[in-house]
Amino acid sequence: MKIAVLPGDGIGTEIVAEAVKVLKALDISFEMETALVGGAAYEAHGHPLPESTLKLAQAADAILFGAVGDWKYDKLDRPLRPEQAILGLRKHLGLFANFRPAICYEQLVGASSLKPELISGLDILIIRELTGDIYFGQPRGRRVATDGHFPGAEEAFDTMRYSKPEIERIAHVAFQAARKRNKKVTSVDKANVLETFQLWKDVVTEVHAQYPDVELQHMYVDNAAMQLVKAPKAFDVVVTGNMFGDILSDEASMLTGSIGMLPSASLNSKNQGLYEPSHGSAPDIAGKGVANPLATILSAAMMLRFSLNQEVAAQRIEGAVQKVLAQGLRTPDIFSDGTTKVGTAQMGDAVVKALA
Ligand code: IPM
Ligand code: MG
Repeated sequence: MKIAVLPGDGIGTEIVAEAVKVLKALDISFEMETALVGGAAYEAHGHPLPESTLKLAQAADAILFGAVGDWKYDKLDRPLRPEQAILGLRKHLGLFANFRPAICYEQLVGASSLKPELISGLDILIIRELTGDIYFGQPRGRRVATDGHFPGAEEAFDTMRYSKPEIERIAHVAFQAARKRNKKVTSVDKANVLETFQLWKDVVTEVHAQYPDVELQHMYVDNAAMQLVKAPKAFDVVVTGNMFGDILSDEASMLTGSIGMLPSASLNSKNQGLYEPSHGSAPDIAGKGVANPLATILSAAMMLRFSLNQEVAAQRIEGAVQKVLAQGLRTPDIFSDGTTKVGTAQMGDAVVKALA
């Protein structure tokens, strides 16, 4: 089992180190190799996704990813910015299925900005299509407008597009995931305005015929954004396109009050996957040893489950995380009165200890 370890920027190195610590404490032999990615790779090799890093990722069964990005790279040309590393990995590895669970941990109910009764017990799964849509659609660029409201003016444009097979495969992923949960899929679209999402809605409806045991609901994205804060527990699996999924998954993760706790997985058709925390590189707290490593540790658990066929080990890690929370250990992002404040490495050590 080969794992490519790509810590990246900001808190990435600190949190990935803790997840590696936890993986090493399992009695499973992995081959782990580390490489630079994002701003760190740009500094060393002049590119956020160097050929050597891409090759390592392609040859691995799974990628454990930290985070990329820092404000100091905002002025670089777009192809050289850290974010291009993650977009490049998604594209080159065909990681089309992005799983973003939003789970409210009982001990952290108070950390949400929503009323406890709205989110207590919350467990929803956002499935975001990750290699299509306006993120990757061609053509895109800048030009002088020849029509529109201001002919002759400088304009920029992107292309929103989805092919039928792209929608079919993510719809299958969503219905199959729902079968293992509460058997409800909400497909989020903007079919009232966009051709792309009329096709989306039609194709999801068509694929649904193969899953009569799963309930399908269609929802416009603006309404979905509203329902997520109004009654989040009404959702089970949410499936949507790349752009809407980017926005809704941030919204969903924040309403759990614990973005530092949420893992994610991005899979291709061979179950090769990239696993990363749902949060970013947090340059403001980087190097201080205060970042919450639990999202990354839980991402390692997802990796064991989805790409490495190690369900028992995955559950061991998840159980250990529950245990340290029950012990009252908290990094500053989830700290509240009456709990014990710990740093990044202490939290990792506690999880290792709780594995036993
Ligand atoms: C995410 C991030 C990325 C995205 C950025 C860093 C390119 O926001 O994974 O949600 O927009 O997909
Ligand atoms: Mg995002």
